[in-house]
Amino acid sequence: MRSTITIMNAKGGVGKSTLVLALAETLSVTHGKRVLVVDSDAHASISNMLMRPEWVHTVQAKGRTMVDFFISTVLRNERVAWTSYLCTGVSDIDDARTIDLLPGGGHLTLFEREVSKASQEALLRLCVRAFLADARNAYDFVLIDSAPGLSILTECWLREVDFYISPTKPDYISTHGLQFLGQFSQRDAEMGFAECLGIIVSMKDSSSFEDAQFERWLRQNSKQPCFDQVIPRATSLQTAAYFCPRPRSYWAKYPGETGKALRQLAAELIIRNAAAHAHRSYDGRAAE
Ligand SMILES: Nc1ncnc2c1ncn2[C@@H]1O[C@H](COP(=O)(O)OP(=O)(O)O)[C@@H](O)[C@H]1O
Ligand SMILES: [Mg+2]
Repeated sequence: MRSTITIMNAKGGVGKSTLVLALAETLSVTHGKRVLVVDSDAHASISNMLMRPEWVHTVQAKGRTMVDFFISTVLRNERVAWTSYLCTGVSDIDDARTIDLLPGGGHLTLFEREVSKASQEALLRLCVRAFLADARNAYDFVLIDSAPGLSILTECWLREVDFYISPTKPDYISTHGLQFLGQFSQRDAEMGFAECLGIIVSMKDSSSFEDAQFERWLRQNSKQPCFDQVIPRATSLQTAAYFCPRPRSYWAKYPGETGKALRQLAAELIIRNAAAHAHRSYDGRAAE
């Protein structure tokens, strides 16, 4: 079941980009899925995690980022192919060969300001919709790494993708970001909003009583379903952010229990995704 999914929590530093990285690589290596990662954060974190820094600098300098694609289509009204902005075969894992990236750029914020100034929000949304429809045909999963906060582009993703996933650290402030997102999804409901595939507890310290207590609280009180699998706080996940110039194996990058947790998480994502699609088509038939 092909899907477009945005990874979103209004709060920063909750492990969004790390989750996108680990999911893309796990889906590629252990399930052979074709994954497109879209870097929708001006900090270009996921681009730097998936590509050599020199490569990131080159595509940014040449104006070949996701931001440049939208500048052309939305602000300049040009017909350009998003596929010509792709960086293919990214990742430092030698057996992850099915991941492509639309890299991010620091001029994203400036672009969004221009869209707002020119009152082109509706056009941006149409371009996002057309891009997603096309990308859905070419990949098993399109994963969008969103910036924290609710910018114009982030809102477009949230209203146009199939699903969103929210990672949260097991602490009070991080779940505030979830509440904010939940309230936002209720506003202007007629404009459409992605379905929540689940909340993922990230960076959980297995030896912390407080983390366990907060996780329990979240599972009991969250309006959205939580993934069974949590992401542990682990040094290997922290260092996964550094692109390794010499390719390594999946097992070296995500060893032991961390790798096991990621594989279970990816398997759970595939099951939830299929169930959500089945539910949608059942609802569709029921409505006929
Ligand atoms: N499970 C984890 N265990 C340890 N460190 C993590 C984990 N997930 C993320 N980090 C680290 O936490 C910081 C924030 O993570 P990041 O994925 O960039 O969050 P976000 O995209 O939400 O801002 C980074 O330094 C990252 O390496
Ligand atoms: Mg990030």
